Amino acid sequence: MKPTSQFPLARPRRNRKADWARRLVRETELCVNDLILPLIVHDGDGGAQPIASMPGISRHSFLGAIEQAKIAADLGIPMLAIFPHIDANKKDAEGREALNEKGLVPTLVAQIKAQVPNIGIMCDVALDPYTDHGHDGLIDENGYMLNDETVNILVKQALIQAQAGCDVIAPSDMCDGRIGLIRRELEAAGFHNTQIMAYAAKFASAFYGPYRDAIGSQGALKGDKKTYQMDPQNSDEALVEVALDIEEGADMLLVKPGMPYLDILRRIKDEFGRPTFAFQVSGEYAMLEAAIQNGWLDGARVRMEALQCFKRAGADGIISYWALEAAKELGRK
Ligand code: PBG
Repeated sequence: MKPTSQFPLARPRRNRKADWARRLVRETELCVNDLILPLIVHDGDGGAQPIASMPGISRHSFLGAIEQAKIAADLGIPMLAIFPHIDANKKDAEGREALNEKGLVPTLVAQIKAQVPNIGIMCDVALDPYTDHGHDGLIDENGYMLNDETVNILVKQALIQAQAGCDVIAPSDMCDGRIGLIRRELEAAGFHNTQIMAYAAKFASAFYGPYRDAIGSQGALKGDKKTYQMDPQNSDEALVEVALDIEEGADMLLVKPGMPYLDILRRIKDEFGRPTFAFQVSGEYAMLEAAIQNGWLDGARVRMEALQCFKRAGADGIISYWALEAAKELGRK
């Protein structure tokens, strides 16, 4: 469509002249059904632990997390995503605690399913909360993350989550072939309807810094994650990753981080037309929230605008640390 030069016949501002007119021509709209609430949960005693690099966000206790799930469900938020903070003395090089059927995540999933039936639960599949080196899987003597050996463990981790009642398995590791192997295992075990949200286009980003604080892997992380997460300067490669994940049985796709990668989101949505989600990650939250708390940005407006832009860029939903605030703001639609 060519822009017209027929001024004053054409005046685009006519459609913006009043609130009702703007609402009428609005192309996309954020609603509470688009929100996924991330919950960081610790396995220690005591209550919530504030996370310094994520002002306003805490690690919840086990019981606190169940409370949060209830609040989210009452607000109409369709799903939450669980991220564990595991005590350092339960961490080892192989991340064995990830396969503990009585561990924090499976126990919590079962409890939330029992007490808060009308909210979906998504679980991260990766070993970084459980490894003493902070990588998402097993590493060799050079610090290189082993692919096939890691995937074998992730398949088991995913199955344990599904058995606990997890609705959506979300592998966040970027190993090759993991979606297909997890899907086959779930099918073989009778979990035909367990969905997989593949972290399909996940970039090796500095915007995850605060999250690594939150789950306690920051100080421990040796090296970086560039041999498995994508180069932030690539775009075509994201389409390859997504195509593979769809072939391997992913039901939903995730782009991560969010705001610096809206172009990737748009390309994936246009190319594949599948349910596509964005993760507004910890660093995005931290930078905006810090400016809001300093009085440099208008919080209510910035939060909404940042989330609405994901919809415009093609997202079906957004994982956001602001999900509760946004849901309150939006009300049920
Ligand atoms: C780990 C994982 C990360 C996040 C979610 N799952 C960090 C990483 O890959 O190092 C980031 C979430 C956030 O920054 O909010 N596999």
